[in-house]
Amino acid sequence: MIIRDAVEADLPIIVEIYNATVPTRMVTAELEPTTVETRLPWFREHSPEQYPFWVAELEGHVIAWLDFKKFLPRCAYRGTAEISVYVDEEFRRRGVGQRLLEHAIARAPSLGITALVVMGRHCPARSTAIAKSPVQSQTANHFNDCLNLMHTLMEYRHEPIHSKLLKIRDKYSMLHLDVLILIYHFAKICSGNILEIGAFVGGATIAAAFGVRDSGMRKKLISIEPGGSVKHKRLGTRNIFRDLERNLARQRVSELVSTIKGRSFDPTTITAVNEMLGAEKVGLLILDADAAKRRDIECYCERFADGCWMVIDDYYGADANAKITPSRADVDSLTKTGCLEPLGFYGWSTWVGRWRGPQR
Ligand SMILES: C[S@@+](CC[C@H](N)C(=O)[O-])C[C@H]1O[C@@H](n2cnc3c(N)ncnc32)[C@H](O)[C@@H]1O
Repeated sequence: MIIRDAVEADLPIIVEIYNATVPTRMVTAELEPTTVETRLPWFREHSPEQYPFWVAELEGHVIAWLDFKKFLPRCAYRGTAEISVYVDEEFRRRGVGQRLLEHAIARAPSLGITALVVMGRHCPARSTAIAKSPVQSQTANHFNDCLNLMHTLMEYRHEPIHSKLLKIRDKYSMLHLDVLILIYHFAKICSGNILEIGAFVGGATIAAAFGVRDSGMRKKLISIEPGGSVKHKRLGTRNIFRDLERNLARQRVSELVSTIKGRSFDPTTITAVNEMLGAEKVGLLILDADAAKRRDIECYCERFADGCWMVIDDYYGADANAKITPSRADVDSLTKTGCLEPLGFYGWSTWVGRWRGPQR
């Protein structure tokens, strides 16, 4: 999803999204639908420098909008703005409104806005904001992204998906429940396809498949697993690949997942992934195979979208005092060069972040 300044050509869809809320009588105080002509002067009152109007666009379609407007003409309110957020019915409850709000909160200081009303959220005072260097602002945005992710995870604890994923974890996964929830969340909100390396018997695969299903969007979920057997008290199996396919079927997600039997770095596997992706990008990578994280990232990085969500397991070893794990060494060096942007650590040893590519 991208957020951009709205242009007049967007007005019909902006009005359509707005009008869809009128009959509910819960969002806008209007009783009758409005028209593009009536809304044109209102639209033109906005300016990107002070009272912006943004649209959220997904695959070329406007799915939501947010606008700023002057709260009251009195001087004391000059740093106060009212914001409105409207999301197309089809795309609600997927974090679209939250993304727009986060963007508004992050941008408020540079617009000279110190308070957003209706939402009642306070932003840093203008003087502090002006004094901030671009690096400081970037750090503050990054810090907010980390906190928002923690908050998102917390919110899922009150949703029915939480107990569903708890059962999936107990039956099929070596990962922590928090990690499965984040995988579900990223699969639901990401734009682009999903690539999983090291599916085992399908715990994370099923969490991602539920996310794809609940997104209501067409996304490919490609899972690579060579198979074999594993001795494990809870999850031991004599045939990993057979159990993977059986578990996907049991959870009724087989049609959502394309499994590839092979190792991530085999040329045949790489070709199969590229063929499945076609011209499309990867918006979420789940990497839980062996210790060679850099090797796997190098095999597929050209297919990652900028901002591709990354879930990488085995960052920390079981023994906190032991030397750093090979996975951690790989992740740290990619972070140092700016290819990876860390957003936190979850569960027992899972690193979570975003792909930023070698250009940064
Ligand atoms: C720790 S398990 C994955 C656990 C899984 N994410 C879950 O939710 O329980 C690691 C899996 O990676 C697979 N694997 C190991 N090397 C691989 C490679 N090069 N490519 C793909 N899968 C690999 C192993 O067969 C094993 O099933």
